[in-house]
Parts: sequence; structure tokens; C-alpha cells
Amino acid sequence: MAKDFLIAPSILSANFARLGEEVSNVIASGADWIHFDVMDNHYVPNLTIGPLVCEALRPVTDAVIDVHLMVKPVDRIVPDFAKAGANLISFHPEASEHIDRTLGLIKDSGCQAGLVFNPATPLDHMDHVMDKLDLVLIMSVNPGFGGQKFIPEALNKLRIARAKIDAYEQKTGRRIRLEIDGGANVSNIAEIARAGADTFVAGSAVFGAAKDTDPNRYNSIIASLRSELAKV
Ligand code: DX5
Ligand code: ZN
Repeated sequence: MAKDFLIAPSILSANFARLGEEVSNVIASGADWIHFDVMDNHYVPNLTIGPLVCEALRPVTDAVIDVHLMVKPVDRIVPDFAKAGANLISFHPEASEHIDRTLGLIKDSGCQAGLVFNPATPLDHMDHVMDKLDLVLIMSVNPGFGGQKFIPEALNKLRIARAKIDAYEQKTGRRIRLEIDGGANVSNIAEIARAGADTFVAGSAVFGAAKDTDPNRYNSIIASLRSELAKV
């Protein structure tokens, strides 16, 4: 049976002048989630999009909007994203004073919750909050920009996170997704899946792959990513 892999294109690399169209095209091309990168020019050295854009995109698709918060502080903005239609909200433990409280806030606002681990951040922060986690996101680049090179050490970290998640799932029966973010593409996605990821963010690999004018522009890149995953 085919494994339950999800592809989550990051709209950070989409054409921002035609964002709604990009979202509907990439989902029509077979992508599963929309990865929504929120940067504040404080926690990370770049500035992107906020709840207003999430709200504007919500009617465009039924797909899960996977909000990746690269902001500090975290808590103030969580209810705004929940109201804007986010399905899943994840944040970096370094950006929250009280990680368990922030996870609770996300759940109470009706969203699924995730923790994001930077390349040098150890996984310890997930150990005592597993019951509140729906997603663990391993960064395979330093956060802030699309189009960076995959950091191979992320593969070791994925294996460790996979073991923790599998042990938890065996004990509780509850699923936690393991997502990779940064530098994923057709040539490394199978290796990333073998290391334990089940959910794959891809920004430049997807949105850089096609000409703006073709309505089916993402079919072939999504199909290539899936055919690599089918080998796993
Ligand atoms: C980086 C973002 C990523 C990024 C991925 O801070 O969190 O989601 O857009 O882009 P690629 O796939 O181009 O590395
Ligand atoms: Zn991201």
C-alpha cells in the first residue's frame, strides 16, 4: 500500500501578484496542503504575510492551510490566524516564553498545533508536550528564506524524531505528522522520506518549476515528487 505522504508547497516562492490562482493551481495539480510562511523581520530577517492574506486565501481552497509562524512573540497572533481560517499552526519553541501554554492556546482556538525545530535546536522540547502536538516540523535550512540548500544533518534529526513519534503512537494510537521544511526537491525527497518524514514542504522546487502562463503548470513537478515518494 502506498504510504501516507503529504506534499505541502510553500507559497513563499509563488507569484505574489497572483497568489489565489497559484494556490488553486497547485492544489488542482495534486498538492495536499498549503504551507504558509509567516515572517516578522524580528525572529527571522525577512517579512512576509499575515492573517489578512490567510483570510483572503481561505475561500480559494478547501486544502489544509499549514501556518508556519516565524514570529516572536507568538501568542498574540494565534487567534488572528485561527479566525483567518488556518487549520494548523506551528511555531518555534525559542519564540515562545511558555511552550505548553502556546500549544494549548492553538488547540483552544480550534486549530491543530505543531512545534518547529531549527537546525541547531535539540528535539527535547517535544518530549513533555506530545499530547498537544499534531505536527513536528524539522527545519532543514535556517528559517527566513526560500531557495536555500538542504542541510544533511536534518536526516539524522528526522530519524530521532521518527523514533519518538512512533513510540508515542504505539502507546497512545494518536498520530503526529513529521514534516520537513527547506531545500526539499525531486532529487532528495525519497531520502528524506526514508529518514522518516511523512509531510514535505517544497517552495522553490514547486513554484520555480513552471511557467506562469500554463494553467496546469504544477502537474508535472507534483507528479515527479510523488513518483520519487512511491519508491520509498
Ligand atoms: C523557510 C521557510 C520554508 C521555505 C521553503 O524559512 O520556512 O517554508 O519557504 O522553501 P524551499 O523549499 O525553497 O527551501
Ligand atoms: Zn516554512
